[in-house]
Amino acid sequence: MRKYFIQTFGCQMNEHDSEVIAGMLEDRGYVAAHAVDDADLVIFNTCCVRENPERKVYGRAADLKRLKLAKPDLIIGICGCMVQQEGEAQRIARKLPHVDLVLGTMNLHRLPDLLDRVEAGQKAVEVWDEQGGIVEGLPARRAEAVSAWVTIMYGCDNFCSYCIVPYVRGRERSRRFEDIVEEVRDLGRAGYREVVLLGQNVNSYGHDLADGRDFADLLQALDGTPGIYRIRYTTSHPRDFSQKLIDTIAASKTICEHFHLPLQAGSDRVLARMNRGYTQGQYVDLVRRIREAVPGSSITTDLIVGFPGETEEDFLETLKVVRELRFDSAFTFVFSPRRGTAAARMKDQVPEDVKSERIQRLIEVQEDITVEINRGLAGKVVEVLVEGESKTSPAMLAGRTRTNKLVVFPRDDRARRGTLVKVRITRPQAWTQMGEVVGA
Ligand code: SAM
Ligand code: SF4
Ligand code: F3S
Repeated sequence: MRKYFIQTFGCQMNEHDSEVIAGMLEDRGYVAAHAVDDADLVIFNTCCVRENPERKVYGRAADLKRLKLAKPDLIIGICGCMVQQEGEAQRIARKLPHVDLVLGTMNLHRLPDLLDRVEAGQKAVEVWDEQGGIVEGLPARRAEAVSAWVTIMYGCDNFCSYCIVPYVRGRERSRRFEDIVEEVRDLGRAGYREVVLLGQNVNSYGHDLADGRDFADLLQALDGTPGIYRIRYTTSHPRDFSQKLIDTIAASKTICEHFHLPLQAGSDRVLARMNRGYTQGQYVDLVRRIREAVPGSSITTDLIVGFPGETEEDFLETLKVVRELRFDSAFTFVFSPRRGTAAARMKDQVPEDVKSERIQRLIEVQEDITVEINRGLAGKVVEVLVEGESKTSPAMLAGRTRTNKLVVFPRDDRARRGTLVKVRITRPQAWTQMGEVVGA
């Protein structure tokens, strides 16, 4: 039996694409390998949102040259966002001549056809620039047993000036309302207990559909799906977060009270140059309305430091908002110029040493806040959806609160995978909260 190994970089969207790739491969008779060395087919599902993950892919793929010398039948494929960049397929051919297969994000469904060619000893390179329609019904080999990713829309039309995603994922395309509802029902029947709805900008879901239904309508339709205890979604753009959406979430039973709202920067001048479409004041007001309507919700964010032209005063605005709003946690990034984006062409790039000094300061401020907030959980009893064994210790189980905090606790008969249990937090920390089961 031929074995495959997929290495995924990037966001949940890509993780889910890898599940679809795995599904197509298993339909073809491939089985999962436990390590690269053991595989007959290695696929890198790539990301190009920042320079780092891109560099890693070239490094890892180059490393496989030796393995291929020892095992000439080894097939190496590269797919995902990196491949969609202009001239990238040619660069791969030049720098990684031992790669057999190159496949874009818009034609993922073409994998089986391309593999026919590769397995017959040819090379196959196919990257579509234009997305066709949405291909439904592709198989997915889901990595998790409790929580399932469900794509609700593809692409992004926002063109934030720093971001490559709209160029590599194409225009916004929403899946049909009924197709999503049906997939979630099937997942509930199959024993999944949580769904995470995926899109680069989920709250513009439906803008391209003729039936007039939007993201709030979708959430409302999914709330109460038999078997599904929790609904999450990512990512939502602060600009499009309507009051209707807040009210829908507040009134629902299963939509989790966790809001991931990427702020990116605190300064209005920087936000405008980023093309984000909101001001600091509008963002702060949104968070205030969410906290009012959905008490106890957690709010997390993404932040970029060192955007072109960012002055010390601009950066201090970011720190100010972080201190004022007290996010539960934040993903913090150093601005990375991406070929073809507007921000990469801006003249006033910030020097690397300034960027790294700023990110250190930002991380310090946010970490203190995260630890302080989590300390407030000590002794509290929270509802945890048990996901399975902890990644760090087989003696422990892990799960999440509705507010998306990871909780780790000793095994307990009441805590079976996929069940909701009451856990008392005994030792709060920055990333993982330690606890003990106190009830089913
Ligand atoms: N669509 C989502 C949004 O609007 O926030 C996620 C986009 S991206 C996959 C995730 C995060 O990467 C962004 O929120 C942003 O903070 C960061 N990011 C995107 N482009 C970047 C760049 N060129 N340099 C540094 N960080 C970047
Ligand atoms: Fe990138 Fe902005 Fe689209 Fe998010 S909303 S994917 S940051 S362009
Ligand atoms: Fe990266 Fe593509 Fe996601 S660029 S962050 S994998 S959409």
